[in-house]
Amino acid sequence: MPVLGRLGLNIKDQDVLEIGCGNGHGAHLIHQRSPRSYVGLDVMEEQIEKARRRYPQYTFLVQDATDLSQFANASKDVVIIFGVLHHIPEWRKVIDEIARVLKPAGTLFLEEPRGMDIKLFDFFFRWGHPDSDFGLKVMEKHLKLRGFQFQKQWTPLMTMYRIST
Ligand SMILES: C[S@@+](CC[C@H](N)C(=O)[O-])C[C@H]1O[C@@H](n2cnc3c(N)ncnc32)[C@H](O)[C@@H]1O
Repeated sequence: MPVLGRLGLNIKDQDVLEIGCGNGHGAHLIHQRSPRSYVGLDVMEEQIEKARRRYPQYTFLVQDATDLSQFANASKDVVIIFGVLHHIPEWRKVIDEIARVLKPAGTLFLEEPRGMDIKLFDFFFRWGHPDSDFGLKVMEKHLKLRGFQFQKQWTPLMTMYRIST
């Protein structure tokens, strides 16, 4: 969150969607910044159950990020996705869906590791990420294809992006 603050994260009075919210820790941090609305989603039912138990006051959904059809076009001011795309072989579909649900002046905040680091960790620690062509360079290429521009900030292991049209 401090790094995202430096990238200009402003979610006060904004409609926020968090993709791959896990057990809800991000939801809590996001709510401290007073959004107008917040929805967190994750494909893992156990994670969402934990999130709901920890934070019954927030909205969480079990949902695969490749299908955001329950959200209208141009309905979100801010989409947040931390460390999730590299878990999804069809990660391009997620970016396409985000491009659809973001309002024209909306912002996507994204955090992902480098493809090379994922492969290293899988080799040494057998973390078992799915086979995927995901990497920051191919992701950046796809973001540009969808009309996005971005600023980024490298941190050890993860690179943070502030993305808009
Ligand atoms: C590394 S964790 C990150 C969790 C959280 N964003 C954080 O920063 O602590 C990756 C999350 O992505 C979720 N995930 C993986 N594939 C997904 C998909 N297809 N749709 C939605 N969530 C997914 C996992 O269940 C997991 O909670």
